Amino acid sequence: MRVLVTGGAGYIGSHICLELLEAGHDVTVVDNLANGKREALRRVEALAQRPLELFTADLNHKDDLSAAFSGPRIDAVIHCAGLKAVAESVADPLRYYANNVAGTVTLCEVMRQHGVSRLVFSSSCTVYGDAATVPITEELPPAPVNPYGRTKRMIEQLLTDLQASDPAWDLTLLRYFNPAGAHASGSIGEDPAGVPDNLFAFIAQVAVGRRPELRVFGNDYPTPDGTGVRDYIHVVDLASAHVSALEPAGGPAPRVYNLGTGRGYSVLEVVEAFERASGRKIPYVITERRPGDIARAYADPSRAHAELGWRARRDLHEMCRDAWRWQSQNPDGYPDS
Ligand code: NAD
Ligand code: WQD
Repeated sequence: MRVLVTGGAGYIGSHICLELLEAGHDVTVVDNLANGKREALRRVEALAQRPLELFTADLNHKDDLSAAFSGPRIDAVIHCAGLKAVAESVADPLRYYANNVAGTVTLCEVMRQHGVSRLVFSSSCTVYGDAATVPITEELPPAPVNPYGRTKRMIEQLLTDLQASDPAWDLTLLRYFNPAGAHASGSIGEDPAGVPDNLFAFIAQVAVGRRPELRVFGNDYPTPDGTGVRDYIHVVDLASAHVSALEPAGGPAPRVYNLGTGRGYSVLEVVEAFERASGRKIPYVITERRPGDIARAYADPSRAHAELGWRARRDLHEMCRDAWRWQSQNPDGYPDS
């Protein structure tokens, strides 16, 4: 297949591009490089020893987007492009709705014009909000608690409406839990702009000496050690799920799958695992809770196993080892390109 990956120059998208190339698919990337790096794609090509095609274009620029569909026939789209910073979405919701929701509307219009009907969407466990029970199954009612999460849920709803309007669409919604780690080569990984929001990226920058200490947001949650518990999933496992999701699977579309390991780890367990994997001390201080945080979230990933034949294979140690390999080989992230 030729697969068009929106947001392919980003953290998760670059790992998906590599998995696709290694599985024998051809890849076209559409990315406006707002948070993606050209260098990431150069490294993907070097690892795969195969070229891909990059269109530097914004999803909301219909003509530019159309150009990406006008070359060799596109068989499927993996839609990763989006803005994802929760606090920023609270401060500037219009930017999030315009980029994420309107961008998806434009993408679907252009797909329809070009007769492309298969799409796999990067959704998030954030659509569940503060779920009443764990593990979280796909049956739990979505209840996102911030504008970012609501953009993800709105996109799920618009795709569900689209599927209902025309059974020719073949839509899959993948709800990622907490992506972590990097390709085992250490050549591609997560390169956040500014202060990292996410735990793994922050710890990696402390380990490499870019930041003095980690702030642990609260140790008074109802969890075994009082710190927040999450379902971290190795980014290469996550990427491989997209290759599986391209194959026709059971169940009526849109198909919805949780992508996680099914196991939760606390902040302090991650710190300890990272120290072991890196041989570096991670100084930390306990601070107040971060507004909007929840005590625990982890997936029931059994549907993805039953219907896609996929499951996460890499453990917390491998996430820490590979995140450290990436960060220690690239202490300042990708060079400017
Ligand atoms: P990322 O920022 O590294 O990648 C997103 C990419 O999309 C970037 O390269 C950016 O330049 C591009 N992009 C954004 N808006 C665009 C637009 N309008 N037109 C073209 N390109 C655009 O983020 P990531 O962590 O790789 O996340 C990928 C997807 O997965 C996002 O949709 C995100 O919401 C979702 N997701 C991420 C996480 C996580 O913790 N990283 C968890 C769940 C879901
Ligand atoms: C994990 C744990 C923090 C940073 C976010 C988004 C969600 C989804 C995944 C995209 C929590 C604690 C963190 C730090 C800390 N993204 N922590 N110090 O909050 O589960 O989810 O990423 O869809 O939408 O909200 O992930 O990595 O930010 O936090 O103590 O400096 O680490 O309190 O318990 P989260 P995270």
